[in-house]
Order: sequence, then structure tokens, then C-alpha cells
Amino acid sequence: MKTLISGGTVINASGPFAADVFVDGDIIVGLAAPGTTTSELWRVGADRVIDAAGQYVIPGAIDGHTHLEMPFGGTHSVDTFETGTRAAAFGGTTTIIDFAIQSKGRSLREGLDAWHAKAEGNCAIDYGFHMIVSDVNEASLKEMDLVVDEGLSSFKLFMAYPGVFYSTDGEITQAMQQAASIGATIMMHAENGIAIDVLVAQALARGEGSPRFHGLTRPVALEGEATHRAIQLALVTHAPLYIVHLSAAEALDEVVEARDRGQSVFAETCPQYLFLSDADLAREGFEGAKYVCSPPLRPERHHADLWRGLRTDDLSIVSTDHCPFCFKEQKELGLGDFSKIPNGIPGIEHRVDLIFQGVAMGEISLARWVDVTATTPARMFGLFPKKGLIAPGSDADIVLYDPNATHTFSVDTHHMNVDYSAYEGMTVKGAVKTVLSRGTVVIENEQYVGRKGHGQFLRRGLNGFLR
Ligand code: URP
Ligand code: ZN
Ligand code: ZN
Repeated sequence: MKTLISGGTVINASGPFAADVFVDGDIIVGLAAPGTTTSELWRVGADRVIDAAGQYVIPGAIDGHTHLEMPFGGTHSVDTFETGTRAAAFGGTTTIIDFAIQSKGRSLREGLDAWHAKAEGNCAIDYGFHMIVSDVNEASLKEMDLVVDEGLSSFKLFMAYPGVFYSTDGEITQAMQQAASIGATIMMHAENGIAIDVLVAQALARGEGSPRFHGLTRPVALEGEATHRAIQLALVTHAPLYIVHLSAAEALDEVVEARDRGQSVFAETCPQYLFLSDADLAREGFEGAKYVCSPPLRPERHHADLWRGLRTDDLSIVSTDHCPFCFKEQKELGLGDFSKIPNGIPGIEHRVDLIFQGVAMGEISLARWVDVTATTPARMFGLFPKKGLIAPGSDADIVLYDPNATHTFSVDTHHMNVDYSAYEGMTVKGAVKTVLSRGTVVIENEQYVGRKGHGQFLRRGLNGFLR
């Protein structure tokens, strides 16, 4: 199948330009100035012409942080690989990187096999995995090498959640040493979980069980402190470090300092930290449970710092940390005890739209919008230039985006398998119109026209930013 995408404005991380895009099978084979002989010849040879007049033609977005079918807090995140990847496609995301989990007492191999079994044959779009190491020991350290060979070049460790995913500083040091020796990147959930657990127990003992205390028992200082500690451990071990879901100015300051001295430290933030706040956690009754995630939503004053971080590249990426739990029966597990509310916010469908609001608000440029949602994730996670770029030779993962459309987020219209929207009633500028995954149209006319199982597993290379 030969497809011509005609009359649109192509936007790569380098900036916008007018071009027609020619796709042969699943690969982009050429870009040409509109109206040129080359473009007219392509039109004659095309099996299908997609009119992109008035639209942006952007690389399919890459969500480097999702949790589909994730066991957590005695339940599971409710989007499966089928429903989650379909919802992602609706929102202009054509690649996700989910987290395979090593359970305590089990090998990395077992965890990876389990996640392959969940995903294989079910995905609407391409997918890869990072590996969560929750049991650092001699055997799992040795296995990290094998996992890299299998196409997972990044390992997530937790300074939070004692007794679940938590690793001690000693374990983190060992895992970082191993990562440094094999060129892998350590992803860190940087919150001081030991101190947090003390604050949580004290709050509950005082009868402070409502959702807003989730935020109050996880203060910014404990994210800043953990971020500092992770950076120091990475400095000592020479490990590349990627701070996940950074939420606070205090943590960003640590990242800025490390980057300024030339350390290989990277960070992502998430739309919820740019658009939501502790006021949402404090919503009346139990409503705040919908907004419980970790790190928690912060006071609004952090928003401006995070946008600045995105502009200056101290924050390299926006990922969703999509981890959906229904309000009914799942978030409700924590009625009266916020510590039992499963942590996570749904958002896989809305990231491209939400970060486009940053363009509309004058916070970032069009090029930076594409960079933080597609191009830098491709480089960071070893997928570039196959993904994250509109250029000859790249996969034809292409989104046609109408910058002048508007639409309103709602549980009634979203495609995520969850019974609420964290952005209910929010009207945004811009809308995804058409989505191609490896040359196949998967979204058009607001319909999913793709196929379960179309998505392929991506064996990723090493972090493309390492010197
Ligand atoms: O609240 C969150 N972030 N849930 C998902 C698990 C994690 O720590 O990323
Ligand atoms: Zn985390
Ligand atoms: Zn996460």
C-alpha cells in the first residue's frame, strides 16, 4: 500500500515545514515540497491520498511510562494492553513503553515473560518494556545483562513503597554499578518512602484518613531529598539516571544542578503535574481519591517551574504514568484510609492534546511539543530514528493533528477503560484527526479502524543521549 499525505505542515523536533509525505508499506520513503514534480508523481502512484491541508503532520507520539494490567495495592490497573493501546492511539500515541515487573523472590526473566504474555497479540500500536527491579540480589543483578539483550535498556528502581518495590541505598548502588557496566539507564521513583511511611502512620493515627492527606504526607522536601540522593548515587557509580514522574520545583532544582555539572541525569514530568494540583486532591468527599498518585499532585506554584524545565530541556520528556483505577470499588478501597487508595491517574489518551495546550498558552514551541512527546522519548529509549521522526527510513507512525479543532474531555467520550476522567469537562484546543501506525491507518473519523495484535514488540537500543 502506497500512501501520500498531502498539503500538511510537517513538524519534527527541528521545527515545522510544508511537505508532502510518501509512505510505502510501513516506512516513510520520501518528503517533497508540495506541488513539485516528485510530489505529483507520488500522487499518481499512490493507492491512497490523505488530505492534510490545514493540519500538522507529526511523528506518532511515544509514551515512555505506562502501567497496563499492573498489580498494585491489592488490585490491577484496569486498562489491558488491548484497551490501553487503543486509547493511546485515539490520542495520537503510536508507541508505549510499559513496565515489566520482577516480583519479590522471582527472576527478571519470569517478570519479563509475564509481561510479554499480557501484551503479545493484544496491542493496537507498537510497544516496548522497561524492567522494574524489586528484588536486587546477586542473581537479578547478573540477569540485567540478559534483559538488555532482550531489548529492555532501562531499569526502574523505587526509593518509595517500602515492602513492595522499595530498594535500599545499598541495593540501588549495586544496581547502578551494574547498569553503568552494561550501558543501561536507571529510572528512579524518587521519594523517601521510609520517612513517608512514618508520616502516613502518624496521620492515620490522628484520624486524618481522607485523600488530601496522601499529599500532605508526601511533602516536596522528601521528593527533593530522594532526587538529590539518587543523583549522588548515580554520580558515584557513573550510572545514567532518569528521574520518572518529577512533580516539584525542589526536585527539578536537583536535576538542573546535576545537568549543569555535566552528569548524565534526565527527567520526565507528566501532564497531571502541569495541569492538576493539590486542590484536586482536596476535592469534597472522597472525590480527591481520583487524583491520588505518587508523587502527589503539588500546589499550583510548581506548574510554572515545570513548564520552564520543559523549555530549558532540564525536563526532557512528558510521559503519562498512565495507571488507571476505577473510582468504584478500586479507589474506594481507600475510603477512610488514604494509604489504601491505589496510586495512579489515567491519561494515556490525553497527553498529546494536553501538551499542545502548552503551545497554545505560549509555554513551549510547536517543535518542543513534538520533541517532548515523541522525538526525545525515541532517543532516550533507544528507538530513534525508527520512531519519533518524519523522515525517509523511519516507521510511518504519523499523526494528523488539527490545531484549530476543539474538544472536551469526558468519561462519556474517552476510550480508556476507567469510570472517570481526571480532566472531566476540560475543553482543549486541537484534536487528533488521523493516526497511522507503521503505515496502517488505525484512527480516522473519530473511529478506531485498527486491529488488536497489529502492535509489535520493540527491542530497544541504549539511551541515545549518552556520551
Ligand atoms: O501513582 C503512581 N505513580 N502509580 C504508578 C506506579 C508508579 O510509581 O509509577
Ligand atoms: Zn513511580
Ligand atoms: Zn509509573
